[in-house]
Amino acid sequence: MNGQPLVYFDNAATSQKPRLVIEALRHYYEHSNANVHRGLHELSNRATEAYESARVKVASYLGAASAEEIVFTRGTTEGINLVAQAWGGKFVKEGDVVLLTEMEHHSNLVPWQLLAERTGARLRFLPVNDDGALALDRLDEFLTRGVKLFAFTHISNSLGTINPVEELCRRAREAGATTLVDGAQSAGHLPVNVQEIGCDFYAFSGHKMCAPTGSGALYGRARVLETMPPWHGGGEMIVSVTYEKSTYKPAPHRFEAGTPNVAGAVGLAAAIDYLECIGRDRIFEHDAQLAMTAIERIKTLPGIRIFGPLDRRGGLVGFAAEWAHPHDLTTYANEYGLALRGGHHCNQPLMRKLGVPGTNRASFYFYNTESEIDRMMEILTSAHRFFTR
Ligand SMILES: Cc1ncc(COP(=O)(O)O)c(C=O)c1O
Repeated sequence: MNGQPLVYFDNAATSQKPRLVIEALRHYYEHSNANVHRGLHELSNRATEAYESARVKVASYLGAASAEEIVFTRGTTEGINLVAQAWGGKFVKEGDVVLLTEMEHHSNLVPWQLLAERTGARLRFLPVNDDGALALDRLDEFLTRGVKLFAFTHISNSLGTINPVEELCRRAREAGATTLVDGAQSAGHLPVNVQEIGCDFYAFSGHKMCAPTGSGALYGRARVLETMPPWHGGGEMIVSVTYEKSTYKPAPHRFEAGTPNVAGAVGLAAAIDYLECIGRDRIFEHDAQLAMTAIERIKTLPGIRIFGPLDRRGGLVGFAAEWAHPHDLTTYANEYGLALRGGHHCNQPLMRKLGVPGTNRASFYFYNTESEIDRMMEILTSAHRFFTR
């Protein structure tokens, strides 16, 4: 990259794709490509089989009780919008509260703002403490009876904080609230079992865990999905249609109008196989270790502020240098083949709270190495010389 060896530390934005996943897509298009659930011919049967078996694989990967609890989506953003429109449109009324946290990605904020504008519901935000953890001691104050939904991220994409999702779901359940976990930063990075977490919804993106862009899924607890009306109308999701009225399939097909991203689902299944071969426990240990090493090393640079917990955290580090704007530092790093992220990371309100225009973020995955951190440190050290000379 720019004549230098590439160091890719932008995995929280999207991961690179293993050849096995790319081959699975090619194989699908060469041998099984057709539309699903429609044809009575062999290719259509193969495509349907590939698509529905991917659903079974995702269900088992997330520890869902059945494949009917898995709705394929384009990713986390679409999954959350589905819940906001279909579930929120039916169950959230004027004066109800949707509880979020101060660390949510715009994907888990803007859909709720849109819902609040439509319904007159109120949004409230569980604060983030200075150490980057949620203010759990204030949960009772926020989790009051008027809260219809508590939606929070599993791992913060800016702070690396790992939220205690089981406890948050339990407390929400006790308060009578439905729960949604934003799994964008967790699905590919640590073992996830939605039944153990006890959430009602869990949304994730395939592209952050080795699968193609435009793939992902929403887990919805069966008895919650069953109560929800469709959100998009069209082919595939109906039982019968007259000019006046339609009846709809049960979940999950009710939520998948139109031709789905079959190849994406096939690629997602291949990515799951790949990650399971490595082991999510091992991936977590590896990424978290790289994050701790990176923190120790970055701290040695002058004028650096590091964000988020300094002990247990996901595999990413957000930091700000008082001697360079995040965009300038990222642009400098790019010249030397280092892919960092610089900016607000779709966390504008959180950045405002932290008092910075943005941060730099190094985010790791199983293919990253300690020697790449050495390389990052060489580049950051020379950046410091460059920006302060
Ligand atoms: C915590 C979190 N939530 C949601 C998203 C949105 O994911 P996508 O753009 O794949 O829908 C991201 C992406 O960076 C994220 O980090």
